[in-house]
Amino acid sequence: MQPFTTRSIVGDIDVIAHRGASGYAPEHTLSAYKKAIQMKANYVELDLHMTKDGELVAIHDATLARTTNAEEVYPDRAPWRVKDFTLSEMKQLDAGSWFNDAYPEYAKKQYAKEKIPTLQEVMDVMKQKDAKAALYIETKAPNVYPGMEGKLVDILKKNGYLQQGKVIFQSFSEASLRKLREIIPKGIPLIQLYSPAMIQGRNLDDVLDQAAEYAEGVGPEQSLVTPEFVQKAHERHLIVHPYTINTKEEMQKQLSLGVDGMFTNYPDRLVSLNKK
Ligand code: G3P
Ligand code: CA
Repeated sequence: MQPFTTRSIVGDIDVIAHRGASGYAPEHTLSAYKKAIQMKANYVELDLHMTKDGELVAIHDATLARTTNAEEVYPDRAPWRVKDFTLSEMKQLDAGSWFNDAYPEYAKKQYAKEKIPTLQEVMDVMKQKDAKAALYIETKAPNVYPGMEGKLVDILKKNGYLQQGKVIFQSFSEASLRKLREIIPKGIPLIQLYSPAMIQGRNLDDVLDQAAEYAEGVGPEQSLVTPEFVQKAHERHLIVHPYTINTKEEMQKQLSLGVDGMFTNYPDRLVSLNKK
C-alpha cells in the first residue's frame, strides 16, 4: 500500500503557531495570535479552559499562576484555578508582564495590557485581520469542564468556523475527541495527541489502529516520531503533526522524517523552511 500523505492535498507543510507565535509574544494573547497571522502560519493553536461562569478562554495551564499576576491580585485564592474565577475577575489580570520579565529580548510595554482572551475574542481578531489561518483547538482537561465540547461547537458554528472548515480539533483525551466526533460535521479533522507516557510499552499498530477509529491524525511529542511511526500513521491515512518544534535543526529533522506539519512557537522559522 502506498503511504498516504496530506501534502498532495495541502501543498506544503502545515505551520501551526503553538499558543500563537509564543516565542515572540506572551502565549495565548491577542498579540501572539496577531503575530502568528502576520507570520503566515496556517493554523493558530489554542488551548481552551472554561471559567466559573462558563466562558471558554484561551490559556494553557489549569491555573492562572504562571502566565498572569493572579497571585498578586487575588492573594487569598490559591491555587488560582481557572474554573474558580469568573470571566470578569480574570479580565482584571495582566497576562503579559511575565513574558517581558522572562524574555527581555522580546519584551514590549504593550504586553502588560494583555488580558486572557475568550474564544470569541480570538475569532473576532481573526475576522478583523481577514486571516486565512484556521484555528487548531485543544480541549484541555475536558473532564474538569463537563459540556465543554457542546459549548465549543455552538460558538464555532455561530461564527461560521465549522461551515467553512476553518478548524481542527485536538486533545490528549480520546473521550473528548469521540464526543466531538458525534457533534461536528464530517470533514472536520480530529487529532489525537500523545505524550510519551501515553504510548510507552504499547504496540504502535494497536495505538494507531485505535486512533484511526475516530481521528484523522495524530500529534505525538517530537521524540516519538520515527520513520516507522510516520509510515504506520500514513498507512492508516492519519496525518502526523508533532509538537513542539522550535529550532530550524529540529524542524529539518522532522521534515526528513516525513511529518505533515508541526506545532512551533516560532512559525516564521518553519514558514521560511517551507519556501525552500
Ligand atoms: O497541542 C499540542 C501541544 O500543544 C500539546 O502540548 O502542553 O503545549 O498543550 P501543550
Ligand atoms: Ca496545546
